[in-house]
Parts: sequence; C-alpha cells; structure tokens
Amino acid sequence: MQINGNAVMSEPLFNRIAVIGLGLIGGSFAAAARENGLARSIVAGSRSARTLEQGIALGIVDSGSQDLAEAVAGADLVFVSTPVSAMGTVLSALKPGLSNGVIVTDGGSVKGNVVNAARDALGAHYARFVPGHPIAGKEKSGVSAADAKLYRDHRVILTPTDATDPAATARVRALWTGMGAEVLQMAPDYHDQVLAETSHLPHLLAFSLVDTLARQGDSTEIFRYAAGGFRDFTRIASSDPVMWHDIFRENKAALLQALGQFSDGIDRFRQAVENEDSDALMGIMTRANTARAHFLAMNGRTSYTRAHSVQSVGDDTTMTDNTHATTNPTFVVAPGGQLQGRLRVPGDKSMSHRSIMLGSLAEGVTQVEGFLEGEDALATLQAFRDMGVVIEGPHNGQVTIHGVGLHGLKAPEKALYMGNSGTSMRLLTGLLAGQSFDVELTGDASLSKRPMERVAKPLREMGAQITTGTDGRPPVRIRGGQSLKGFHYDLPMASAQVKSAVLLGGLYADGETSVTEPAPTRDHTERMLGGFGYEVRRDGATSALSGGGKLTAGKLEVPADISSAAFFLVGASIAANSEVTLPHVGINPTRTGVIDILKLMGADIRLENQRDAGGEPVADLVVNAAPLKGIEIPEALVPLAIDEFPAIFIAAACAQGDTILRGAEELRVKESDRIQVMADGLAALGVSHQVFDDGIRITGGEFGGGEVQSHGDHRIAMSFAMAALRATGPITIHDCANVATSFPGFAQLATHAGLKLEVK
Ligand code: S3P
Repeated sequence: MQINGNAVMSEPLFNRIAVIGLGLIGGSFAAAARENGLARSIVAGSRSARTLEQGIALGIVDSGSQDLAEAVAGADLVFVSTPVSAMGTVLSALKPGLSNGVIVTDGGSVKGNVVNAARDALGAHYARFVPGHPIAGKEKSGVSAADAKLYRDHRVILTPTDATDPAATARVRALWTGMGAEVLQMAPDYHDQVLAETSHLPHLLAFSLVDTLARQGDSTEIFRYAAGGFRDFTRIASSDPVMWHDIFRENKAALLQALGQFSDGIDRFRQAVENEDSDALMGIMTRANTARAHFLAMNGRTSYTRAHSVQSVGDDTTMTDNTHATTNPTFVVAPGGQLQGRLRVPGDKSMSHRSIMLGSLAEGVTQVEGFLEGEDALATLQAFRDMGVVIEGPHNGQVTIHGVGLHGLKAPEKALYMGNSGTSMRLLTGLLAGQSFDVELTGDASLSKRPMERVAKPLREMGAQITTGTDGRPPVRIRGGQSLKGFHYDLPMASAQVKSAVLLGGLYADGETSVTEPAPTRDHTERMLGGFGYEVRRDGATSALSGGGKLTAGKLEVPADISSAAFFLVGASIAANSEVTLPHVGINPTRTGVIDILKLMGADIRLENQRDAGGEPVADLVVNAAPLKGIEIPEALVPLAIDEFPAIFIAAACAQGDTILRGAEELRVKESDRIQVMADGLAALGVSHQVFDDGIRITGGEFGGGEVQSHGDHRIAMSFAMAALRATGPITIHDCANVATSFPGFAQLATHAGLKLEVK
C-alpha cells in the first residue's frame, strides 16, 4: 500500500505499460491508465517521432521509442492499437523486446484475423495474448484527441481463445474496469459476426447509399433536397475510408454473411412493395419498430421511454454503439386547481398481459380491443414475438394475435427482457416452466431487485427446473423439457401473480393443478382462461384446472384500468369543485377495493351504466369532490386495492384525522418499497405519518410543496402529481420515465383535466 496524504492508494495494477500506436485509441488508453493510477510508468511505441513528442508533451506517456522492441522492453503489459491489417507486422517487430510473463492485448475492431496474426507472431507469448475491442471512439483522431474518459461507461469486448491464460484475461479485465469500462467476453468468431451485423454492415450500407446517389447525373440536385432521413442514415459514411477498407477486408467472411442476410431482407421488402402487400409491409416495419425500442431498452436495462430518449454519441472512427442514458422526465406540478371532464384512461394492464399470453397459446386468431400500449404490456408482447408468435399492432389499442397453440412457442434466441414488469416475469415463469426449450428472463434495475422465488418454489414442486439469481431475484432461468405434475398449492401470500403462475404452469402439467388463496386476489387469469374455452373450476378460495386442454381464439375487449382511474378518483375527490367521469372502467370485484376504501373515507363515487364486457364487469365512474375523513382500512380490502395504495395515501393526507393501513407488507416488494418511498415523499411535503412494517398511519391536514423522489415507480409519481391539487406549494417529482409502463399519456390527460403539470 502507498500512503498518499490522507488517501490510501492501492498498488498500481501494472508496473510499466507500453502502448504501441498512439492514435485516439492508444492515446486515450494511456491517458486513462495514467488518470486512474493503473501503471507506474507508461511508454509509447510509434513509427512517428512527432506523435511520440506530442504524447510526452501532453503528459500521457513518460517516454517513447520508434523502435517497437525497445518500446516494449521491461513492460508487464503491452497494448497494441495499430490498424488491424498491420497487426502481424507490428507484433513481429515488437516480439524481440517482450519480457517473460508480459501480457499483450490489443484494441482492434476485428478479432479472428488478429488472433491468427498473434498466434503466428508471438510464439510462447501467445498464451498471454488477450484480444480485445473497446467499443468507443469519436470523430476526431490522433493523439491530440486523446481523452482519459473515452472508455468510461463504454463496453470493451475481450475475446480470449482456448489458449489464453485466464489469469491474463482477468488482469486485462481489471485494467479496463479500472478505466470505468464495462467488460464483456465472447469468442473471437462470434465477436466478428456480431460486429459485422451491428457495425460493419451499417457502415457499408451508408457508404454504398451515398455512393449510389452520388453517381447519378443529378446528384447535386438530390443532395440539395436530402434532409433528415438521408443525413441520419448516412452520417457514418463520413468515417475514415482507410480504416473501413481495412475492417471490410479483415472481416470479409462475416461481413459477406451479414450482407447475404440483408439482401434476403431487402428482397422481401422489394416484393412487398412490388405486390402492394400492405400486411407484409406493416409486418416488417412494426416488427422493426418494436424490436428497436426493445433492443435499446434491453441494452440500457431501462424503460422503453428512456431508451427512446437515449442519445447516441457518434463514433465515426470505430463503431457507433455508445449510448448514454439521458433524459428522465421530472413532473413539476403547480399547486391548486380542480379536475373536470370525461376522461378515458388506458386499458387494464393485468388483462392486457393476459390477452397476449393466452392469445398466443390459443388456436386461431385473437382480436384484442383496448389493449394498453404501455411498456409493461409491450414487454410481454415482445416476449411472445421473440418466441415466434406473429402479433400485429398495437394500433389504437387493437392487437391481432396469430395463436400458435399450447405447444407452438419457439425457443427465443436470447434472454426475454421484461423491462419493469413483475407481472410479465412471474406469469411467464409459470407459462414457460413446461416448455420444451430453455429460457432466461431478465429485467430492468427495479425488477432485478424483486422476489422471484415465490413463483419458482411452487413450480419446482410441480417438477420444473428453475433457478433464480442472488437472493432469489432475477434473472430467472428455466430449463426446458421437464414433465410437470399437477399439485395443490396453498398460497402463502395473497398474490394473483403467484396464483396465475401456478395455474399457467398447470396448463402443461399432468392431472389437476389447484391453488387456494388466503384472501381474494384478482381473478383475470381464471376468467380469461374461461373466455378462451379452457375450463377452470372454482370453489370458494380454490381454483383448479387440468393440464392438456386447448385454448380457442376469439375476440377480447380490455376495459379501462381501475388502477389508472384511481389517480383521478383521488384527484377529483380531494380538489374542491371537481367532477370527473371515467368511462368503461373494469370493476371486477377483485379490483374495486379502491372504490370501497375511498367511499368509506367519504368520497362521492357513483357507478353508472354497469354492464358486462366479454366476461368482465365494467362501469362509468362518476366522481365529485367531497370532504374525506381518516379511517382504519379493513384488512380484507388490502389485496383488492393492492396497486392503488400510493393514490389512497394521498387521499389520506387530505382527509381529516388519521388513516391507518396494516397487513400490507406486500407493498414493500412492488416496483419500489411503496411504504417507505411514499413515506419519504409525504415527509418532503410535511405530512405527519408513522411507518409500520406492514403499513402506515397518515395524519391528514394542510401540506406544502416539495421535492419527491419516485424511485422510478410509476404509481408513486402519478400519486404525488395529484397531491399538488391540495398542496400549498409546487411539487417536483423526479424520475418519472416509468409512468409510461402503465399510463402512457398520463401527463397530457391530467393536464387536460385541469392539473397544472409540466413535464421537464
Ligand atoms: C397483478 C397482480 C398484483 C399487482 C400487479 C399486477 C397481476 O401483484 O400488484 O400490478 O396482473 O396479476 P401481486 O399478485 O403479486 O400482488
């Protein structure tokens, strides 16, 4: 250990690093090693004396040599960042200077050929050659553009071979991590294939399109009118032709294969245009559209909205894959106002998920109306597309699902990404437990903290092979090809998700699967299975089904989501002179706890025009402002209002007297710990409260404005937005991107109704 002032500095990772080729990549590597204290000394090797002088003058290297063998002498790590086509010559030139035990690594964009060159050139040192590729760069080149932060938050791919000493790989990994990069590992050939598809092919296409247009006689005219689309698509055609010439040659085989697949795609597109085949055209484009949003979200492990607002930082010299999560909206809500109008809230989230799941497993084509185009339901939709189901839409809430039958799902090519959606992950765990293929389910940062053993455990008892990550959290890995046996499960907690997971697993089990719940929870799975013609036997708290049946496609109507309506039920109740009508809201008795609780508090809510919509009861809800009083919330209502408590807490803050909630420990494992996060927000506004393990006491009264952290929880964000109707100052709510998981368009609808909300 070195002691430096008060700070304790650990030993540098390397004694002497030699950087061969001091351009942007090598220069930035040296600068980052220096800034992060990763080497005692840094030397450079370059054919250009001027470059070496510049590097020394910039303070990023201590010394340099034009003789590469001399440059690497005494180094315990050598980083080669010369063009890939020169790699063989460069490695042969530096080899005589290499010390025993030295680790050699590189930064080339193509790996297969580099590995071959290293095998031929390095002799015994090849065992400690760790091929690498930092996915970073910028438009500028040369050592003068060196940037110590270039690799921070960027990916570096290491491609060790079977011959590579794992200890050497581990040290190179530590070096990049020390520069702030995220390190991935894959085989060299796979690297080249992935890069050919995601980087080399797009560059080739950009060069080709610009060249094709430029060859036309009237090209000047064309370019004059070339606006956004052309500019976006061809930006990377400004990249360095010499470098790309090298890459295209070095990665020839993989590039040609990617080009072949692309040509097939273009042929399909051409045919669809030629035949005026609207279905085919829409199919291609809607798939591309959602796939792009999905990939961005998956890579950022974030919501679709956030992924859409991510800005790409261009890298014309290596590869454009550098994304930085940026905007995450903040709601700023001015105090006061009232809510008025007829407000149609989006479709029910729980039913939207289930419509995709059951529609996909059905035989025939299912038409869904009123589907929630929120990110959670879209994650489910994408998962089934990834498993080969053709799904058209959603367009204005209409989705057409071409069901594949109970046994028609195909193995997805990669992990299924569930975003923020606990319902998707838990229900799919059940549904996939009995498939013939392996699957992995992953999610965003919030979902990755939520408990999954609650579904894995009963499914294992049925014979499923499921593993969960640390502490029983995602990722969930399911081994296919297991035969499941029906069994009886007494739910240890009132959870519709666990109940549904077991029942969906039961579709694939031998014999009867039954579940008894400790308190009534939403029964959409049971009802919808019935709607698809699958018998579910219900007896009091127990639901049972037998495996091996079939689902028959049909029409499905998803009513408006009572959980989304809840914000307006509360908002209109607490803001004097409000009157709001919420049409066509689902009032399934397992979901109406929020209406019962608000009515017990004195709310004026009427159910009009009650009717049946495809096996689910619906009504128009009419709400008028009314004075509220605090109550002790009956525990029996807790599971029936489980998602509406953040909104109910705001009603409690506006009520006269104390509202007490107990028996609601489940709130601690929702998208956030909703007891604590709500308590923190209430504290920020000056609302008195007392937190319990399983609930909260809230003392109503006047409260001020303040800053609230939603912790990315959609329902927390929307609840505090409504609180502004009664606050004496503005309320600022951070981290609101995930509102789009359940209520896209919330800000617009709430503003239209009279809330003074601004999205920043
Ligand atoms: C849901 C069930 C509830 C609810 C969630 C949706 C469902 O979760 O909180 O938003 O669609 O089955 P639990 O059943 O785990 O309480």
